[in-house]
Amino acid sequence: MAQPHASFVCQNCGAISQRWQGRCDACGGWNTIAEESASSGIGARATQGARKGRIFGLSSLIEKDHKAAPRITTGIAELDRVTGGGFVPGSVILLGGEPGIGKSTLVIQACAALAASGRRAVYISGEEAVDQVRLRAQRLGLAAAPVELAAETGVEDIVATLSHGKRPSLVVIDSIQTMWTELIESTPGTVGQVRGAAQALIRFAKTTGATVILVGHVTKDGQIAGPRVVEHMVDAVVSFEGEGGRNFRILRAVKNRFGPTDEIGVFEMTGRGLAEVANPSALFLSSRDATAPGAAVFAGMEGTRPLLVEIQALVAPSPLGTPRRAVVGWDNARLAMILAVLEAHAGVKLGPYDIYLNVAGGLRIGEPAADLAAAAALVSSLSGLSLAADSVFFGEIALSGAIRPVAHGLARLKEAAKLGFCRATIPQGPTENGEAAVRDLAVRSCAHISSLVAAIAAPDGLPEKAAMPAKRG
Ligand code: TYD
Ligand code: MG
Repeated sequence: MAQPHASFVCQNCGAISQRWQGRCDACGGWNTIAEESASSGIGARATQGARKGRIFGLSSLIEKDHKAAPRITTGIAELDRVTGGGFVPGSVILLGGEPGIGKSTLVIQACAALAASGRRAVYISGEEAVDQVRLRAQRLGLAAAPVELAAETGVEDIVATLSHGKRPSLVVIDSIQTMWTELIESTPGTVGQVRGAAQALIRFAKTTGATVILVGHVTKDGQIAGPRVVEHMVDAVVSFEGEGGRNFRILRAVKNRFGPTDEIGVFEMTGRGLAEVANPSALFLSSRDATAPGAAVFAGMEGTRPLLVEIQALVAPSPLGTPRRAVVGWDNARLAMILAVLEAHAGVKLGPYDIYLNVAGGLRIGEPAADLAAAAALVSSLSGLSLAADSVFFGEIALSGAIRPVAHGLARLKEAAKLGFCRATIPQGPTENGEAAVRDLAVRSCAHISSLVAAIAAPDGLPEKAAMPAKRG
C-alpha cells in the first residue's frame, strides 16, 4: 500500500498547500497551517477498497401526495422570522458570532421554548459543564423547561445517544469547534475535524429529521474560523452580531435554503437573557438629539420590515491636504458618489472638508434608498441648519442628480407615521399621493437633488431661518 502522505491545511480558510509554511498564501493568515493526514480525510475510504455501487430509487419532483413536514416555531418571534418562519425539520443551521455575544444564551432559550411546548430539545455543550449550563438556565428563569443536557465532544457518541428514544426536534451543538470524530486522525478544532464532525451531524439531521444548530465562533474580522469550511454544507448560516458596549443584538440570515436572507431579528441582552425587541425603530432612534444639525432619519427596510435609523454626518474644514472621509455602517463608494452628485448638480462644495458619516446604533445599511437621508445629513451638517426633528427621508440618488423611487415606499411611510413622524421627503412617484394610512404625514416629493438642498435651506411650515450661512471654514 502506498505510504499515506500528509497534506498541510490552513485552519482559517481550508486552503491546502504542499508543504508547511508560516503564512497561508490563500488568506494571508500567519501560523494557521497544520499538518493533516491525507488518508484520514473524507473520501479517504474510497481509495482503500472499491465497493460495487448500490442501486437506489429516484423520486419525482412533482410528488402529488407529498406533505411537507410543518416548520417548528419556537415562539421567539425574532428568531422565527430570521429562520423564515421556524425551523425546517432535518435542516442544519450554523449560528456564528463573536465569543460572548450571546450565542449560548440564544440557543438555550430556543431549546427551553421548544421543550416547554412538549418537543424534545437536546443541548450538547462542548465548552461548559452540565452544572454551568444549568446555572445559566436558572439565571434565565428557564430551569423548569425539560431540556436534555449533556457535556460531550465525541460526535459518534452523540449521534449514538441521540438515535435512542424519541426523535429530538432540536439538537444544539455548542460549539462545532469543540467536536471531534474518530474517523479523522487530526486534533480537535482543526479544519478536518470540524468538517468531519459537521458532516456526521448533518447526516444525523437528514436521516432523523431533527433540526440541528451548530454554534460556531467567529474571529474579529467576521469570518467563521474553522467552521467557515462547513458554510457550504449547512442549510442556513445565521450570524449573531452586536456593537461593543451596546446591549442590542442583531440576528441575521447570511444564507438560507428555506427562506429569505434579508430578514433580521433584534434582541436586547438583559439581566435575564435575550429579550425580543418588537419595535426596533424605537430602539434605534432612542436617545437621539433631534435638534443637532447633521442628523437625518432614514426610513429603511430590513427584509420585509420597515426600520427607521438615524444617519449622522459631520462636515468640518480639513487641516489636511487630502481631507478625511470615514464611513461607519454604510458604503464608502456610495458616500463618494453622493458627494460628487451634490457638488456637480446642487453646487454644494464639499471638497475641502473632512467628512464623517455614521449609521447610529451600529446598524449596517446596504440599501441605495439611504442616499437621500445621507445627502440631507451632509447638507444639514455643512450648513449648520438642523432638519425638522419629525421628518424622515428615503430615495435613491442617480448620478444625474435625479431622485429615484424605491421599493416599499408605503411601508416606510406607515412606519414613520406609526412612530410619530409628521413629514417625509421622498422621491416622486406613486407613493407620494398619500394613502389613508399615511394621512397624518406631510409628504414632500423631490425630483432632483437641488430641490432637496433648497428644501433644507427653507423648510416649509417652519419660520425660514436666515439664508444658508456662508460655508464654515
Ligand atoms: P453567551 O451566551 O455565553 O455568549 P457566547 O455563547 O456567544 O460566547 O453570553 C455571554 C455574555 O452575555 C456574557 O458576557 C454575559 C452576558 N449575559 C447577560 O448579560 N445576561 C444573561 O442573562 C446572560 C445569560 C448572559
Ligand atoms: Mg457560548
